[in-house]
Amino acid sequence: MIKFLDLQKITQKYSKEIHEAVDRVVDSGWYLQGKENENFEKDYAQYIGTKYAIGLGNGLDSLICIFRAYIEMGIMKTGDEVIVPANTYIASILAISENGLVPVLVEPDINTYEIDETKIEAAITSKTKAIMVVHLYGRCAYTDYIGTLCKKYNLKLIEDNAQSHGCLFKGQKTGSLGDAAGHSFYPGKNLGAFGDAGAVTTGDKNLAITVRALANYGSIKKYVFKYTGRNSRLDEIQAAVLDVKLKHLNEDNKLRKHVAKYYIDNITNPEIITPKVNDWDANVFHIFPIRCKHRDKLQQYLKDNGVQTIIHYPIPPHKQECYKEWNKLSLPISEQIHEEELSLPINQILSDNDIKEVIRIINAF
Ligand SMILES: Cc1ncc(COP(=O)(O)O)c(C=O)c1O
Repeated sequence: MIKFLDLQKITQKYSKEIHEAVDRVVDSGWYLQGKENENFEKDYAQYIGTKYAIGLGNGLDSLICIFRAYIEMGIMKTGDEVIVPANTYIASILAISENGLVPVLVEPDINTYEIDETKIEAAITSKTKAIMVVHLYGRCAYTDYIGTLCKKYNLKLIEDNAQSHGCLFKGQKTGSLGDAAGHSFYPGKNLGAFGDAGAVTTGDKNLAITVRALANYGSIKKYVFKYTGRNSRLDEIQAAVLDVKLKHLNEDNKLRKHVAKYYIDNITNPEIITPKVNDWDANVFHIFPIRCKHRDKLQQYLKDNGVQTIIHYPIPPHKQECYKEWNKLSLPISEQIHEEELSLPINQILSDNDIKEVIRIINAF
């Protein structure tokens, strides 16, 4: 069986360093807001190329706190609109609606699966305050044109960098391209923790201070509360683990690209559409998405032949029960992606034999 993701094997790769780091925290007796956080925040900010990184409890909270901070700073208010790709993972959208802001869904491009830049301007209204780009599947969604639109309409650019740690746009890391970025370190991500974890990166000092306070009950000074905040702090064990894995991230992303290139060069079945890559630096292949008109049949066939796959994602956000008001919307490109997408195994420990086996089986479909 070729697993979609074998976290046990992935962890084994850094086992010694991770055990040392975890032991260090256990023995220290200090489990929150300590040196491990400080180190990871410093290292992650340096890696992404922003002045500030704030460790948080998970990726959703990191996005929620960015919007909440803009509200507290008087830059956004209830009813303001945020443009977001219609095919993103639900969390990007939840972060907007949770804050009383209005998500405005824009269709993706069928070739890249990222927000279609040509459809953004028509969605901008007098209430629009931000564009959220989601570097979905690990591919950079930002374009110079999106940057131009943000300037032209005075919009904040928020990045959802949950799936794209280490991805580059013209030499600059995603997560440093806009005003603020949310990051998830869910265990299966390119940089994954041993549970939930996340971060915000930004160059804006005020935003950084506000986000940190919001994630700490709304407090900047102990027992003094400026905001009605939440508790969403990165714990010391996760920070220590992440700091170890961060050192290996570039090498791990290189290995993912090796798998992706092998798939792209060798999957020849005309029923299958593989990702189009025009810049190998601008994709860290968190997911290797293929499309197939007979997706469900293909998934069953792969399962019968020992290859585990996952669909990212089976139901588009506008068809979900939690957003009933959108259920009648027609977003055909997004719906097509949700009907046809299938994710093949891709990670830093997949062997060449496994890759070849997946390709052999797919080409025989
Ligand atoms: C695109 C995207 N945004 C946000 C999130 C939320 O992150 P988390 O699961 O850490 O809350 C995820 C991951 O799950 C994601 O894939």
